[in-house]
Amino acid sequence: MGVRTILPADLSPAEVNALLCGGVAPRPIALASTISQDGIRNLSPFSFFNAFGSNPPMVAFAPNRRARDGSVKHTYLNAVATGEFVIAAVSHAMLHPMNVASAEWPDGVDEFPKCGLTPLPARIVKPALVAESPFQMECRLHQEVALGSGPGSGLLLIGEVVAFHAREDAFVDGLLHPDRLDLVGRNGGTFYTRASGAAVFQVPKPAGRPLGYDALPEVLRTSRILTGNDLGRLANSPGLPDLAAARRPGDPGDAEGLERALQAALAADHLEEAWRLAALRIRGA
Ligand SMILES: Cc1cc2nc3c(=O)[nH]c(=O)nc-3n(C[C@H](O)[C@H](O)[C@H](O)COP(=O)(O)O)c2cc1C
Repeated sequence: MGVRTILPADLSPAEVNALLCGGVAPRPIALASTISQDGIRNLSPFSFFNAFGSNPPMVAFAPNRRARDGSVKHTYLNAVATGEFVIAAVSHAMLHPMNVASAEWPDGVDEFPKCGLTPLPARIVKPALVAESPFQMECRLHQEVALGSGPGSGLLLIGEVVAFHAREDAFVDGLLHPDRLDLVGRNGGTFYTRASGAAVFQVPKPAGRPLGYDALPEVLRTSRILTGNDLGRLANSPGLPDLAAARRPGDPGDAEGLERALQAALAADHLEEAWRLAALRIRGA
């Protein structure tokens, strides 16, 4: 399989942007609500966005200079002028209104009536909340970081969250649940991701210090059937289990059969059974 190595110096800013957006993906989307000093609301989406600290809670997004002409966006001007913004998470139900808000509406246009989303007064800051969003953060500008100065360069706005708003029904057992939030993310080009249903899954955290890949017996590591993920599951075990595990009627008698059965046990989340079959394989079945 070939690998393409690309140096940013050989690309235009628009090509670099396409590469970054395709490869750094999916990205969460901040629907940023701001207000101008004249009191005009603005609402625009930004996927150069994430959270960076919890104490105090800090988030950042980047309303960057336009690649076309290096001009700055209304969101940037408003947030810097007022020191405040609201970030609303974007659920699948808000996808197309969000897309309308991303159009280049002229200066002085309030995107709320344009996209059909509903402004609500925030608790602490002046910019409006978005009634349809299941999770929102009222923020005060903490720091502005210019990441260059030319067209397409980054203008990172770091904000301290002064109030969270989460819809009551977004919680399951006290935690925000992906199916209830049903958030969308941005990939490259016109691709998006929906983070709910079959697209979300759980992975248990490593418990204590796991065994590690390099401690797996060579016969497993060199298997042509077990995948990197299969071996990763075994490497995440707390230690090598009992390798004297008993053979049972119906167990495959050949190496390939045992490895396929082991793989099936892993796919069914039966880790103990997977290790029992691994033990038979290691013993040389
Ligand atoms: C899903 C999505 C994500 C976007 N992410 C960014 C981003 O991270 N940075 C950026 O500068 N523009 C981004 N844009 C484009 C802005 O939303 C667009 O330039 C908008 O017109 C800015 O509006 P404003 O001038 O009112 O702030 C994104 C657009 C969409 C649809």
